[in-house]
Amino acid sequence: MLIDDIAEVLITAEEIQKRVAELGRQISADYEGRDLLLIAVLKGGVLFLSDLMRHITVPHAIDFMAISSYGLSTETTGVVRILKDLDEPIDGRHVLIVEDIVDTGRTMDYLLRILQARHPASLRVCTLLNKPGRREIEVPLDYVGFDIPNRFVFGYGLDLREIFRNQTFIAALKPEAQHALSETAQEVSE
Ligand code: IMP
Ligand code: MG
Repeated sequence: MLIDDIAEVLITAEEIQKRVAELGRQISADYEGRDLLLIAVLKGGVLFLSDLMRHITVPHAIDFMAISSYGLSTETTGVVRILKDLDEPIDGRHVLIVEDIVDTGRTMDYLLRILQARHPASLRVCTLLNKPGRREIEVPLDYVGFDIPNRFVFGYGLDLREIFRNQTFIAALKPEAQHALSETAQEVSE
């Protein structure tokens, strides 16, 4: 599968790196003197976390959570499941969730509910990508890298059927390819 045939670059590697550095600076200023814990959502948030934390100058710890919501399809199913929980408790800590993308908002809504119930000192969200036009559940987003249109994207941590996570840019599927892929995924799931 050649990327050029199915997709086009939506956000370049340079644009991503510039924005991630800005977010890091903003987060560093906001969390000065606080006990910051970054929680990345596996697997998509991994590249974003590793770049972002290099721009965060306040001391901080990291932890990971794995959640499934997408399956093979390019459309959300609304079914969210914890695959891996945090290693440490978060009560009394200043928690910042680092996510790759907020689409319908279902995953983030679920995550915010379960983490809020553990009584962190504060709970905020930093997402690299946001698709405001797809929102089904309103979720508060404290830091947003880029607002993007309603298209399926991949690269820089996000996958197209588990591959292309290593790309340094964000690509958007061409409409013809998106149509073909979602048709196939539906057949698989039914
Ligand atoms: P939501 O629950 O609909 O907001 O979807 C959130 C999750 O779906 C994200 O964490 C991603 O894993 C996945 N997702 C949503 N949109 C895309 C996309 O365009 N490309 C790749 N994954 C996506
Ligand atoms: Mg994700």
